[in-house]
Amino acid sequence: MKKIASVFTVLVLIIAFWSCKQETPDVRIIPQPAMLSIDPQMVRLPSVKAIYVSSHDTALATAAAYLCEKLHYSVVNVEGKNQGHCIYLELAPPAAGVNPESYTLVTSKEGVTIHGNSARGVFYGIQTLMQLLPPEVFGGNGLLKNSGIKIPKVSIQDEPRYKWRGMHLDVGRHIYSVEFIKKYIDMLAMHKMNVFHWHLTEDQGWRIEIKKYPKLTEIGSIRKNADGTTYGGFYTQAQIKEVVAYAASRFIDVMPEIEMPGHSVAALAAYPELSCTGGPFQVRTAWGVSEDVYCAGKESTFNFVQDVLTEVISLFPFKYLHIGGDECPKDRWAKCPDCQKRMKTEGLKNEMELQSYFIRRIEKFLVSKNRSLVGWDEILEGGLAPEATVMSWRGEAGGIEAAHQGHDVIMSPTTYCYFDFYQGDRRFEPKAIGGFLSLEKVYSYDPTPAELNIEEAKHVLGAQGNVWTEYIPDEKQVEYMALPRMSALAEVVWTPKPLRDYEKFLFRMERQYQRFDAMKINYRVPTPVTTAESFIFIDSLVVDFHTAAQDAQILYSIDGSDPAVKGLVFSSPIILKANAQIKAITRMKSGRTSAMVEITAEKQEMMLGMQLATPTTPGIDYELYEGLFKSTKDLDSQKSVARGVVNSFGLPEASSSKPFGLIMRGYLKIDKPGIYRFYLKSDDGSTLSIGNREVVNHDGEHSSTEKSGETALGKGWHPYELRYFDAGGAKSLGVSWSASGMPKETIPAVNLASLATPMMMMSH
Ligand code: ACM
Ligand code: ZN
Repeated sequence: MKKIASVFTVLVLIIAFWSCKQETPDVRIIPQPAMLSIDPQMVRLPSVKAIYVSSHDTALATAAAYLCEKLHYSVVNVEGKNQGHCIYLELAPPAAGVNPESYTLVTSKEGVTIHGNSARGVFYGIQTLMQLLPPEVFGGNGLLKNSGIKIPKVSIQDEPRYKWRGMHLDVGRHIYSVEFIKKYIDMLAMHKMNVFHWHLTEDQGWRIEIKKYPKLTEIGSIRKNADGTTYGGFYTQAQIKEVVAYAASRFIDVMPEIEMPGHSVAALAAYPELSCTGGPFQVRTAWGVSEDVYCAGKESTFNFVQDVLTEVISLFPFKYLHIGGDECPKDRWAKCPDCQKRMKTEGLKNEMELQSYFIRRIEKFLVSKNRSLVGWDEILEGGLAPEATVMSWRGEAGGIEAAHQGHDVIMSPTTYCYFDFYQGDRRFEPKAIGGFLSLEKVYSYDPTPAELNIEEAKHVLGAQGNVWTEYIPDEKQVEYMALPRMSALAEVVWTPKPLRDYEKFLFRMERQYQRFDAMKINYRVPTPVTTAESFIFIDSLVVDFHTAAQDAQILYSIDGSDPAVKGLVFSSPIILKANAQIKAITRMKSGRTSAMVEITAEKQEMMLGMQLATPTTPGIDYELYEGLFKSTKDLDSQKSVARGVVNSFGLPEASSSKPFGLIMRGYLKIDKPGIYRFYLKSDDGSTLSIGNREVVNHDGEHSSTEKSGETALGKGWHPYELRYFDAGGAKSLGVSWSASGMPKETIPAVNLASLATPMMMMSH
């Protein structure tokens, strides 16, 4: 009996140990809260399937209804008396000096309490609570069984860094179902984003029913493709109201955008008399910018726009209304008698001021209707309307200027916020508009520019991610482009800057991907990560991978075959002894796979160095070429127009302000044999060859980006050739290197010699 008892005790201890192991709190909240304290214990989720609320407040009821829908619970009003052992939502009166979006969340043996000074704050507490629960709660099937569920014991005090946390969606280039728009709003809600910027009109389609102007949708919503097919659609006013109400139930404001004076060809196709020329026009099928815009001279344009905005205002209760203002060519205005007459009578110096007149007049109208105007940064040109808020997209300069002038600003620069850009290797990603914006780059963003003083910085309301849809034909693709970059932006606009940490963010993302899976979102699966795109080795090479996804596998091949078909499961670093092309993908537990990464590994002989006569002649020889080149290859057999010697890499002072080409040559000294990596940062193209090997190919027209390549170099001097061209616009060239395992640095002048130095003999 005693023996049985002790076996039993051991068993109990094992079980207790096992369950303890299972129950270490694993808190992964996105966006990371401002203050989070985690107790080592877990606590039981109250088993009563009801949400208790502190009052009859209707907004609180909205927040409670949301949680009930997610958990399949019911609501009980307890008139301010927290009885414990339940999920309790408490709304306190607004307090001076307290951010109305703040909340506290406490989970303990006594239950779960969420406290906010507004229902919106309570709602954010609910979002955080949901992230303490199993990811399945995001799937909409409720919490199937809540008895025995344990949640981390936490105490959270949280509030956002910025008050504008937006996501935009262009439904002009492609249109998506109302169901999808609601799903997109859910994606915002889980990230505590609070503005949905709905881009409703474009050259390629008018997407909102306006009762007074039925042709806007009858004609303006449909484009006829060259192959005879048509593409179109629009949202009825009833559908718009449904979306606005859905967003409101998630504490998200919807800001409509009605584009003017440019990006208006769809409206002009319906009402050509609103243009300068009278048309006729077709709803545009090509992307880009049209010269045909609303006529700023005719009164009928203003009557039309005001009528449209009157209906729009009746559908959207949000204070802000976006009127576009971007990319409006002035060609038509310059030739239009009506526009020229307007400029004369209004004393406007040029067409920029005419645009400014247009926007000011619309602002006056909006203000009379209790609305605030938002416009893209072009509205600065010709003078800002008195109360306008600027959305800065062409970099941050427009936002900075507007803040200097005392205007509010929303930051949305292409460099950090354009989610229509590529997010990985173009060869393997779905076609996108161009550019490159990685998850890490989004995460690194700080919406408050250092140029602003404390007072000016207060004008930065926040930031916003933009999803333009020229190359996003369907809903799955919107999800792919928006997530996970929206998650990164959510931390940028919510989390205190000192708490931002990209590695920790990736760790938290592992859980976020599971939530996305539960929501059936086609997010971009993170690709496997290694240290470089290409490797050179002498004897053997070790390639290590990691992935940013929990429960994910990496599959790889080294023979060029598709890893999704018969890839090996990566479990330890790959050791290579011969040339290989490594292809790898991530496969999530759900079966979804990532885009591919391709890595080349080349076995090289060490290149023999030469001996030069000493002392060597220092410097770098260069030759300049005149002309518009598109590739460094175009410099073959050209005659140079100038030559000289400089002592460091970069653009020689003699280089032209017109497009030009450049070749730099000389000898490079290697003191220690090994693998060297060279980095070319250039705008536009550049290439580097050493001996007879091309080491870096960063050719072609591009903005300032960096590319690197490796080669195996023996001791001694090596002849090199660096080529570069500038095809106009910004220009730059930078060269650096790193010896195997060493940090990147500029190449010291003592390691460079001019071709004028005589050669002695080969050495090893
Ligand atoms: C824009 O991207 N044209 C605002
Ligand atoms: Zn005109």
